[in-house]
Amino acid sequence: MVPPIVTTIQEIRAVTDAVRRQGQTIGFVPTMGALHEGHASLIRAARAASDYVVVSIFVNPIQFGPHEDYAKYPRTLDADQWVCAEAGADVIFAPRVEEMYPPHFYSSVEVARLGDHLCGASRPGHFRGVCTVVMKLFNIIRPDIAHFGAKDYQQARIITQMVRDLNMPVRIAIEPTVREADGLALSSRNRYLNPAERAVAPRIQQALQKIAQRVVAGEVDVVRLESALEAELKAIPGARVDYARIVDAEFLQPLVRIDRPAVIAVAVFLGTTRLIDNWLIGDPASW
Ligand code: PAJ
Repeated sequence: MVPPIVTTIQEIRAVTDAVRRQGQTIGFVPTMGALHEGHASLIRAARAASDYVVVSIFVNPIQFGPHEDYAKYPRTLDADQWVCAEAGADVIFAPRVEEMYPPHFYSSVEVARLGDHLCGASRPGHFRGVCTVVMKLFNIIRPDIAHFGAKDYQQARIITQMVRDLNMPVRIAIEPTVREADGLALSSRNRYLNPAERAVAPRIQQALQKIAQRVVAGEVDVVRLESALEAELKAIPGARVDYARIVDAEFLQPLVRIDRPAVIAVAVFLGTTRLIDNWLIGDPASW
């Protein structure tokens, strides 16, 4: 069955309220559409964990900076509906911008500290926009479990922190990054890459793996590791490094030595396309 598309808050609330009244659990996958196999894996995880699965598709204007790709972000609702059907979603919530942000919308949600570095530093206001829309979506849909991808590691950590800090009654599940056969992390933005950029893009993940191997081999000095990482990334033809950092995996603060679970996180421009990827070192399962 192709899941129906619901566009108003009132209608999706009627749907999810009815589901809850039947005693069913709700799994939720928030997205901005242009769905690919990474999104599909989240939908399948939700299908496996909950009775009823809601996918939201909303290109959230307030998480884009003034010179970012909001206007040209791919919008492929028809194809997205099929991905949702194949992966087992029950309903799609695809509101218009005015439905989510009516005139005189003044509130926002911000998680301190965890946004100080990485994408939070490069994209001021980005995570405030993400937290605000995710908080709204949680309040509208009231899911039992919401599924996020490890590909956007900082985002997943910030949302987990928001839910913990604000006692929101939802469990956050973080699902593994889905990659192309050559290692490139799937992203809606990969379709911006020209053939030459696409050909070198897997070297981003190869650089992460090389640095992770040096850690496994016993290197713990973060300055040395970060400069090796940056050198690997700069050697990719046409690449411009936005950041190449190793931070602690829980609070995303800079490290001097690798003495706890850490994440290697990078953002690289290939031409005008900004790609992110990350690699975990150590086991953060203890949080
Ligand atoms: P979007 O970029 O569409 O991503 C939606 C979800 O899919 C996020 O949880 C993201 O981490 C996950 N995802 C993307 N690529 C993935 C991959 N290769 N493997 C596994 N998961 C992947 O992230 C957003 O949208 C927005 O910021 C949103 C949370 C919807 C708020 O607007």
